[in-house]
Amino acid sequence: MTTYDQIGEAAAFIRSKIGTVTRIALVLGSGLGVLAEEVEGAVVVPYAEIPHFPVSTAPGHAGRLVAGRLAGRDVLVMQGRFHYYEGYPVSRIAFPVRVFRSLGVRTLILTNAAGGANPDFVPGDLMLISDHINLTGHNPCIGENDERIGERFFDMTRAYDPELRATARRAGVELGLVLREGIYAWFTGPSYETPAEIRMARALGADAVGMSTVPEVIAATHAGLRVLGISCITNMAAGMSGKAISSDEVFEISERVRPQFSSFVRRTLELLE
Ligand code: HPA
Repeated sequence: MTTYDQIGEAAAFIRSKIGTVTRIALVLGSGLGVLAEEVEGAVVVPYAEIPHFPVSTAPGHAGRLVAGRLAGRDVLVMQGRFHYYEGYPVSRIAFPVRVFRSLGVRTLILTNAAGGANPDFVPGDLMLISDHINLTGHNPCIGENDERIGERFFDMTRAYDPELRATARRAGVELGLVLREGIYAWFTGPSYETPAEIRMARALGADAVGMSTVPEVIAATHAGLRVLGISCITNMAAGMSGKAISSDEVFEISERVRPQFSSFVRRTLELLE
């Protein structure tokens, strides 16, 4: 069976469960999944039930698709995502994004927890992703290209849609948030980076580092989706604070940021064209 056919089967299954056409999808990162609990009229579909869907194994990732209304908009929410460090091929990580496209989604909001590599940042900051650096050498579009999914070669200049970012900036201003904007560098994990790797990432222009999002953004751009990327800076990256990085801290800070993160995403949804 081709990937295209698998996408079709997964999409047909989800459509049979949720009924409506949804134009906006959200992917909730580490510790940020609780936003899915705020979805009204929620129809929950566990990943395990969806044909060909991977199943998430990472801590803090619930592994279910939630469809319903958030801030007055119909949304599809991935509560828990897939990471390369879990052992999936990158093309599998991209699979849900391709299914979203097949379901009629046009706008994808991707969120993550990230380490701050910009010394001006502090844990708890929210950062709009303006661009990324792929330090892994992986790409979900490697392999035979199926033109029904997207073109062989595709532009990444506007991968992080400038209009969506402008909308999100407006939401940030209205809420009086300190909203950062910067470049996200993708490392595979699961080890946090070394201080030398962080110095390298900074020298290359990275403002934040993390273990997700980039494969989904590449697949989304390939499939013609508009992307908004939001990082929650949960810790200063390795070597920047003199402290060891702990996943407890990552979850603690993402928990603390939850109210601001939630209002920010909600206001952004309300303002979306
Ligand atoms: N590095 C990579 N991924 C992360 C970090 C980090 O410092 N913090 C949260 N996710």
